[in-house]
Amino acid sequence: MINPQPATRNQQLNDMNIDIKIFRSAEESASSLADELAGLINKSGKDRHLAIALSGGSTPKLLFQALAERHQDSVDWRKVNLFWVDERCVPPDDSESNYGMTRDALLEKIALPPGNVHRIRGEEDPDSEAVRYSEVIERSVDRKNDLPFFDVVLLGLGDDGHTASIFPGNAYLFEASETCLVAVNPYSGQKRITITGRIINNAAMVIFLVSGKKKAEIVNKIMCGGEKTEYPAEYVKPVDGRTIWYLDEDAASLTGGQDIDC
Ligand code: 6PG
Repeated sequence: MINPQPATRNQQLNDMNIDIKIFRSAEESASSLADELAGLINKSGKDRHLAIALSGGSTPKLLFQALAERHQDSVDWRKVNLFWVDERCVPPDDSESNYGMTRDALLEKIALPPGNVHRIRGEEDPDSEAVRYSEVIERSVDRKNDLPFFDVVLLGLGDDGHTASIFPGNAYLFEASETCLVAVNPYSGQKRITITGRIINNAAMVIFLVSGKKKAEIVNKIMCGGEKTEYPAEYVKPVDGRTIWYLDEDAASLTGGQDIDC
């Protein structure tokens, strides 16, 4: 009996429905993801809108620009219902607004019907907006496992391991029964609205878009597992969906490249 070779880390991750895609640059990663999203939208049934939830921060801007440049006319944007994973509690014209960044980089350049854009109203009272947005999601998207079901949830990764607006120490947001809750950025005290972990983990596809050397250490810790950490991003485990990591070489520089070497 030949001793079976120990599974490689890639195989272990693949067994957990986790795919890793590494690109030479953040631009290449964003362009490839834009093409993948365009393909998903175009192949979806004609009578079905895709529910897509976007994250903010700086990384996704390249993706939104790539979508606008590469797929302004090659995607039937009427088939998309757009939501946000989280939003800073600021007005839409504030430089911190995730919606404002998406509007400027993408929404103003594509024929996505305004009625399909469901922004979080960062200018409203946070507690009441968390309730309102929960209701918007619950009445606007399909349900699976008796929870709102997103086709795609796009996530970023903070260098402290946060994702969405779920920061270290707030793992309760992964078990919360609410669809959205108020969170606080512990470094700035800024209030945010975030969808909760059960909604993220109910998605068909969760995509992490991560780039830059400053994320390399946290990416390596998450890719290689090992000692139990309290990084919120590690709680992202779609119950019956897939997780895909879109990384540039800088962000993957400590994981040994496409063949994860922990
Ligand atoms: C936000 C995001 C947040 C972000 C990470 C990474 O509202 O800030 O949802 O989770 O994805 O903080 O941000 P960068 O892309 O700016 O590094």
